[in-house]
Amino acid sequence: MIKSVFIGCGAYLPERSVSNDELAAKVDTSDDWIVARTGISNRHIAADGEMTSDLAFAAAVEALASAGMAAGELDLIVLATATPDETFPATATQVQARLGVAGIPAFDVQAVCSGFVYALAVADNFIKAGQARNVLVIGAETFSRILDWEDRTTCVLFGDGAGAVVLRAETSPSGTSPASDQRGIMSTHLHADGRHHDMLYVDGGPSSTGTAGFLRMRGREVFRHAVSNLTSVVAEALAANDLSPDAIDWLVPHQANKRIIDHTARKLKLPSEKVILTVAEHGNTSAASVPLALNEAVTDGRIKQGDVILMEAMGGGFTWGAVLARW
Ligand code: UT7
Repeated sequence: MIKSVFIGCGAYLPERSVSNDELAAKVDTSDDWIVARTGISNRHIAADGEMTSDLAFAAAVEALASAGMAAGELDLIVLATATPDETFPATATQVQARLGVAGIPAFDVQAVCSGFVYALAVADNFIKAGQARNVLVIGAETFSRILDWEDRTTCVLFGDGAGAVVLRAETSPSGTSPASDQRGIMSTHLHADGRHHDMLYVDGGPSSTGTAGFLRMRGREVFRHAVSNLTSVVAEALAANDLSPDAIDWLVPHQANKRIIDHTARKLKLPSEKVILTVAEHGNTSAASVPLALNEAVTDGRIKQGDVILMEAMGGGFTWGAVLARW
């Protein structure tokens, strides 16, 4: 029995942090509205010329250092993004080239805000199938490039950033199943429902308009679906492992809106001290939000080896999913 164990993490945020007041000087909004409706106060925005692969590379270097692993030991890179540097090649291949590890497979996963959860599931399955031992999983986005900066209903919500983890295969002695306190990914749960395209999408792309396009969202409806989908996928993850909510040490949710996160935590009866929140300073960084939150809580010592963490996310598609793991 092979398990995927987290052995390191890292993150990168662009230097420039933009406050709600700075946005209120450009569009008809206010700090009060944004904080009350979303919990967001600031977001980081990539510099001119700074690309998703730059953010991803910086997060990857930090994750490898924290894992004590040389890039040369990797045998797979999976990068989650909806904002690749270019339509092709995959941004993962640019990170691979900069890490100097030509030859190993590297590809992108596109599930928008659920991207990191999807990428973890892909990596976990490669490991469990015996096709990879050391995997770099990255979530990286430059959503600032696909925002309509005149649309106050979306431009205040998102930010740029990247987070990464390193997974390593660990095999139980033959004939034994892993002990319940063994570290690693316990289960992954993925879902999608393409009927909801029009609620959250980008109005451009190589085979439609030939332009990159801008993000469009019917926020109130997305909110409603997020609450219901996240509640059900979290219940599914717990049931699959025969765990009750009080077994969770940390909820590491996608950081779209503090009200959605509060709702999920309330459903689980989790006290707010067990919820990792970064939305106030990062905004919604899409596929980067879960690994950014994870890295913050590991780095500041809240998440410790052996803790049970529940990661969940929901995004355009719709896509949604959860990963239950022992750090
Ligand atoms: O990560 C992918 C998943 N995405 C999400 O999970 C996002 C889910 N949706 C949300 O987080 C929330 O729906 C929003 C934060 C986007 C909006 O909050 P809301 O409480 O659902 O507000 P609303 O869309 O119902 O809008 C309420 C009012 C409207 O005005 P009227 O029609 O009541 O006069 C909006 O025009 O707020 C207005 N409004 C704003 N006012 C000031 C919308 N955006 C702004 C703004 N500043 N930035």
